[in-house]
Amino acid sequence: MRRILIVGATSAIAEQCARIWVKDSAVALTLVGRDREKIEALRVDLAVRSPHSVIHTETLDFLDPVAIAELAKRTSLDGPLDIVLIAHGNLPTQESSEQDLSIASSTLMLNGISPVLFAEAFAGLCAIADHGTLAIIGSVAGDRGRRANYVYGSAKALVAHYAAGLQHRFAETNVKVVLIKPGPTATPMTADLQQQGRRLARAEKVAAQIVKAIDTGKPVLYTPSIWQPIMFIIKHLPQRIFIKLKV
Ligand SMILES: NC(=O)c1ccc[n+]([C@@H]2O[C@H](COP(=O)([O-])OP(=O)(O)OC[C@H]3O[C@@H](n4cnc5c(N)ncnc54)[C@H](OP(=O)(O)O)[C@@H]3O)[C@@H](O)[C@H]2O)c1
Repeated sequence: MRRILIVGATSAIAEQCARIWVKDSAVALTLVGRDREKIEALRVDLAVRSPHSVIHTETLDFLDPVAIAELAKRTSLDGPLDIVLIAHGNLPTQESSEQDLSIASSTLMLNGISPVLFAEAFAGLCAIADHGTLAIIGSVAGDRGRRANYVYGSAKALVAHYAAGLQHRFAETNVKVVLIKPGPTATPMTADLQQQGRRLARAEKVAAQIVKAIDTGKPVLYTPSIWQPIMFIIKHLPQRIFIKLKV
């Protein structure tokens, strides 16, 4: 049975990935979240979809390095993991981060430091086993600082920089690192955009592309794929043109 661990398993995108994994075959799945009731409800739902899968839950404080290290240590007792997906995040408005430094701080911590700590803890286990795929969800927002979301975006840029380093570290091993950069996707995180009538990608589609990228060990996934050329242009626009854009 494949062993899969999902950090931030209650995220809409992660939940769709989990549904694909349990549909494909029975798996040994660990769901990691912050809210015991929510994560338990997800466990029950997935268990009904896949009665032969073995599904555990874990809850912890996502900003506590000691708790994260202990989680990785506990997990290692059952043998090497095949897949670790790190999916949590939040998206307070840019204005709220500008007006309240505690919001800026928690945005940077949750979207930047926390995923890196989880990845680093599980990277250590993958290194020992010389096995496993670490997949981390970043964002297209990490590709270039923009006025609309530069605090969240800089946390995601930190994740991208970290993932590149991890890929370098594991280049000559059997460990794979996949950095996922979704574009705007219809999930609870983007409820405001949906209310404004913005057309967003479906979480099911994004999840299917994530699962495929994990299977093939693709180093960087833009999903939906249209975001790769869009971000190429945005990244390479000269500053004098870029600063005039309302993005
Ligand atoms: N949706 C998009 O447009 C989009 C675009 C680019 C990148 N992303 C990234 O995709 C990933 C998944 O997001 P999503 O769209 O699926 O969002 P979502 O459904 O809103 O899920 C957010 C996840 O983060 C967890 N979370 C939020 N605050 C937390 C905290 N303080 N401590 C621990 N966990 C916390 C939530 O836990 P609870 O369920 O307990 O609240 C939930 O599991 C995130 O990394 C996000 O930044 C999303």
